[in-house]
Amino acid sequence: MTKKKLWGGRFSKETDAMVDDFNSSIRFDNRMYWEDIEGSIAHAGMLGRCGIIPKDDAALIQKTLKEIRDDIEAGTAEFDVYAEDIHMNVETLLISRIGDVGKRLHTGRSRNDQVALDLRLYLRRQCDEMAKQLRSLMGTLLNLAEEHTETIMPGYTHMQKAQPVTFAHHLLAYFEMLKRDAERLKECRGRINVMPLGSGALAGTTYPLDREYVAKELGFDAVTNNSLDGVSDRDFAIELCSVLSLLMMHLSRFSEELILWSTHEFSFVEMDDAYSTGSSIMPQKKNPDVAELIRGKTGRVYGDLSALLVTMKGLPLAYNKDMQEDKEAVFDAVDTAKLCMPVFEKMIKTMKVRKDVMLKGAKGGFANATDVADYLVKKGVPFRDSHSIVGQMVAKAIGLGKNLDDFTLHEFKECSPLIEEDIYEAISMETCVGDRKLKGGPAPERTKQEIQDGRAWLKG
Ligand code: ARG
Repeated sequence: MTKKKLWGGRFSKETDAMVDDFNSSIRFDNRMYWEDIEGSIAHAGMLGRCGIIPKDDAALIQKTLKEIRDDIEAGTAEFDVYAEDIHMNVETLLISRIGDVGKRLHTGRSRNDQVALDLRLYLRRQCDEMAKQLRSLMGTLLNLAEEHTETIMPGYTHMQKAQPVTFAHHLLAYFEMLKRDAERLKECRGRINVMPLGSGALAGTTYPLDREYVAKELGFDAVTNNSLDGVSDRDFAIELCSVLSLLMMHLSRFSEELILWSTHEFSFVEMDDAYSTGSSIMPQKKNPDVAELIRGKTGRVYGDLSALLVTMKGLPLAYNKDMQEDKEAVFDAVDTAKLCMPVFEKMIKTMKVRKDVMLKGAKGGFANATDVADYLVKKGVPFRDSHSIVGQMVAKAIGLGKNLDDFTLHEFKECSPLIEEDIYEAISMETCVGDRKLKGGPAPERTKQEIQDGRAWLKG
């Protein structure tokens, strides 16, 4: 059988084989087969209901499309680059099975609104899957935080020890970031979930399509308002890449910390053997490859975002073939995020947390200097003066090779006669953390509440 292009009517020459190959997107858009068929089933049903094609034809089209889907899933239906993309491959299969009836499917529709529909359906499903993964990861963060509300560790600014916090508090900081990511994902899903069929190629259609019916059948919240926009808009894919870029940024920052904390110098955590790798030459090595790869893959997702932004920036309305390039980028961003979330979750679930080392880290490096200054303020010294006194105290401690807590009362009194025996209690790590009980602070009673609130949020 000689093959003929679905659009071949006005052509007198075959497309060059190299152009077929170049033009074709089936290699990567075949993953939207389910959505393409789901959309066509709804479209055919609507055409039948509205009397645009015979009801029996609509039913046969729907039945055959389901069979084609089963065959694709069973691996017995073949795609062909000659048919260019998933949309024309499915239609070609349909026509090969039911002939002229199949040719009625594309009535009142263009590939331009069809591809917009398929991509929206596909990304909507991905949003739901990613939302689930993200919630699971957030639940694990809360579980881990629950175990460590009393685990004191140094907090840093400029990578210099600053003030003590708890490991739970640190984990909860990431919980907040991921919570915003989850909210953004949900909002993005809302903007994805708008139905573009009926936009046609660009100018709508003269057929009396029932767009609302199709939208309802496919679970869309609304239909697009403008046919030119309906086929030209890829904001939703870009927005998703942007949401995923932020999510990856958060996982990457956390990964960076875990990599640092896994060093011999820090030793705050130890990755489980099952989540580390060795070196082919250095027998002693245990490398945090998983965290490094997550950090590395973040760059890829940023790349996908920039690729899409740059692809779209110069395109006049409406559809332009450049837009076929959207898929690999957004698919890659989604694939990468979906790959990273569960492995990150397992990695933190299985890592060992070295409470003793964290506490030791918090005790060295004058992390309680602010608390000494606050102690003097409570005794009536203006803060600027107490800041200066404690600065001198730190210089003295460095000279003595001591921590502030290790000063004798006499050494304290040399710095300020206002200091009494109660200083030791006031600047202990437990007090430094425990007294920071304002909303948002690291005090165990506060973080316990935050964990409860977090759990309620996850349920809601
Ligand atoms: N494969 C195309 C894409 O992904 C589908 C739409 C093509 N429409 C067209 N008129 N060439 O963008």
